[in-house]
Amino acid sequence: MNLLQKIKQKKEFKNLSDKVVEKSLYEYLKKNNLFLINLSKKDEKVIIKEIRAELRYLSGQFQKSSKNRLKIIENNSLYSLLKTHSSTLERLDFYSKLKSIISPLNAKSILDLGCGLNPIALASKGIKYLAVDIKEDELFIIEKFFKKNKINGETLVYDLRDFNSKDFLPVDLTILFKVLDILEKKSHKLANKIISTINSKYILVSFATKKLSGKSMNFPQRVWFLSILKKNKLKYKSFSNKNEIFYLIEKDISPT
Ligand SMILES: C[S@@+](CC[C@H](N)C(=O)[O-])C[C@H]1O[C@@H](n2cnc3c(N)ncnc32)[C@H](O)[C@@H]1O
Repeated sequence: MNLLQKIKQKKEFKNLSDKVVEKSLYEYLKKNNLFLINLSKKDEKVIIKEIRAELRYLSGQFQKSSKNRLKIIENNSLYSLLKTHSSTLERLDFYSKLKSIISPLNAKSILDLGCGLNPIALASKGIKYLAVDIKEDELFIIEKFFKKNKINGETLVYDLRDFNSKDFLPVDLTILFKVLDILEKKSHKLANKIISTINSKYILVSFATKKLSGKSMNFPQRVWFLSILKKNKLKYKSFSNKNEIFYLIEKDISPT
């Protein structure tokens, strides 16, 4: 069994694409000047532990229960489905407000990056929706939802750590809910790259305002994010609910 297979042996990583695990593994080996061919058993053990910790951080903490998801989608009980992901569960009561904010933008195309189950709450007929994530199981559920509800939607397994704006067609609205904080721990280069280069008329970004402990953050505004907006001379409006702060950004482009 190779190292990648060993890392993926745990059930919780089964639905992550190999490419995502490979990327974490490659970056780790590069950073630590290690080579796959001469790894000791001890090195291997440490690598497996560290890569799993990173993958758990990227993908793991949000799912409430995946057991009945397929059954729920068969019954088209979307409200119950949204309750199976902690982020969509948290904003269940806020989706109608979000829709009233998105509606006047007249978006005909939406790109949802790191989407989780969010498209199930926001996608509708008449809007082309591209749902992007690293979790194949969630994208599978979304695909079923699109089909069942005759929504012009597609899903894409894509690792945002390799983000290139050329990989995406121009859209009216890009959604980045509670994902930018996860992508990089120290620098904010990737966030800057996504915000400054994405070909989207509007970008709606959100960040959690509560810590994992459930306590409210003392400074929920992301100063680093505001400086990215300032540096790129982007106009924005901010609003919040009890769990999240949102930034609606307007970019000066017209999608084709
Ligand atoms: C906190 S959840 C938020 C989900 C959704 N945006 C919402 O707010 O309802 C973060 C999501 O980002 C996805 N994600 C994490 N790292 C990613 C990466 N490198 N590329 C694409 N998606 C990623 C996770 O799989 C997860 O679905």
